[in-house]
Amino acid sequence: MPRIIDLLRDGVPNDRAIAQGWVRTKREGKGVTFLELNDGSCLSSLQVVADNQNFDEVLLKQITTGASLRVKGLLVASLGKGQRIEIQAQDIEVFGTADPETYPLQKKRHSFEFLREVAHLRSRTNTFGAVFRVRNACSFAIHKFFQERGFIWVHTPIITNSDCEGAGEMFAVTGLDLPKLATAGKAIDYSQDFFGKPTFLTVSGQLEAEVMATAFTNVYTFAPTFRAENSNTSRHLAEFWMIEPEMAFCDLEGNADLAEEFLKYIFSYVLEHCPEDMAFFQERISDRVMPNAQKIINEEFQRITYTEAVEILQKSKQSFEFPVQWGLDLQSEHERYLAEVHFQKPVIVMDYPAGIKAFYMRLDDDAQSDRPTVRAMDILVPGIGEIIGGSQREERLEVLEARIKAIGQNPEDYWWYLDLRRYGTVPHSGFGLGFERLVQFMTGMGNIRDVIPFPRSPLNADF
Ligand code: 4AD
Ligand code: MG
Repeated sequence: MPRIIDLLRDGVPNDRAIAQGWVRTKREGKGVTFLELNDGSCLSSLQVVADNQNFDEVLLKQITTGASLRVKGLLVASLGKGQRIEIQAQDIEVFGTADPETYPLQKKRHSFEFLREVAHLRSRTNTFGAVFRVRNACSFAIHKFFQERGFIWVHTPIITNSDCEGAGEMFAVTGLDLPKLATAGKAIDYSQDFFGKPTFLTVSGQLEAEVMATAFTNVYTFAPTFRAENSNTSRHLAEFWMIEPEMAFCDLEGNADLAEEFLKYIFSYVLEHCPEDMAFFQERISDRVMPNAQKIINEEFQRITYTEAVEILQKSKQSFEFPVQWGLDLQSEHERYLAEVHFQKPVIVMDYPAGIKAFYMRLDDDAQSDRPTVRAMDILVPGIGEIIGGSQREERLEVLEARIKAIGQNPEDYWWYLDLRRYGTVPHSGFGLGFERLVQFMTGMGNIRDVIPFPRSPLNADF
């Protein structure tokens, strides 16, 4: 059966049509009832015109905002503004009513904070409808981009015993009855646990993606990842989706080239396939949405080194909350200054100090200097800061072993990861794109909790 998007686009006056959806608004005219019916297929609703004398009064009363209906009727040219076609109802079936006394989504505008509390219903609003359609289009574009280039989509484990980022921000996974152990005053013995050792929800699929890249050359993951960092910010989630391509025979410059091409592709795809939703964001959410998208697509990303970034920030005479000093990580305010104010476009920062980055990143040739760096790259965008983090990987066995030891870890725990360097090692690189940060940037939504249907954040795991 055609959806409302099809009727609005292809419907011709005098066609018979059936439309199903949820009532957004109801308006009374002279002897007629006007309904806006939406089925989620597009931002626009289909206007339903019901001649009151053709319908039972009780039935008309049942129809309020939120009710679900099937309407059969005749398409007619619309005299209303902004719509080409509407449906003259001949038959209306009410599937479910929505008591206006209790249904939370009434005609007035609701705050995003309020809508988060009714996340099971918020997708029925214009904004969230548009966000989740754009999210869908982004997902599809991502797969399309990689599949067109011969990348293999690999599925990496959710439950793992390695902390890829080494930041210790993992959620434990256990089959042990912890309350019972606690009551009995017993210590936790992981050898008795389901996997016989401590396990966690993964923070990244990268290490396993590297395994697959050393067989298939080019692979990518697209999966949920989990971080127990207690950051209650507008750009952190405890559960978020990440896309992690990994390429064998690829250095940091090739990695940056791919990341830039990738972002340009996704933005072009979404602008082409979701013009109505994107126009809505530009008009109602942020007037930076279109200019940002155009910059991503049309302008070359700025590439600088970390050392240059620090110099720019120090010369900026801005009063930042956090200090700017070679060797310290860039904070969100610094990242945003670079992308938003200084360059006013996406910036790729490369070659970070080894001391602030993960163990798997390749040591630069300046390893013997007093300021050693690694072949890392972060992509920063206006309004958000870091959207992508990646690196060339350390492919030299001895160097990698030494790095693992230096962070106080046991190389034996990484035996299989080290095997990749022992057998047929190859220069390789990859990056991780935070999917929600991408959708946030694309839609201009201020809070990352509003671009994922069911956000997980500190003290919030409802729905
Ligand atoms: O920079 P990160 O930590 O890099 C990695 O995990 C690497 N293993 C990626 C790789 O090289 N394959 O995370 C990558 C991206 C960040 O740039 C950010 O966009 C996003 O993931 N991200 C988060 N998004 C939402 N909530 C959080 N708590 C996030 N932490 C990271
Ligand atoms: Mg990062």
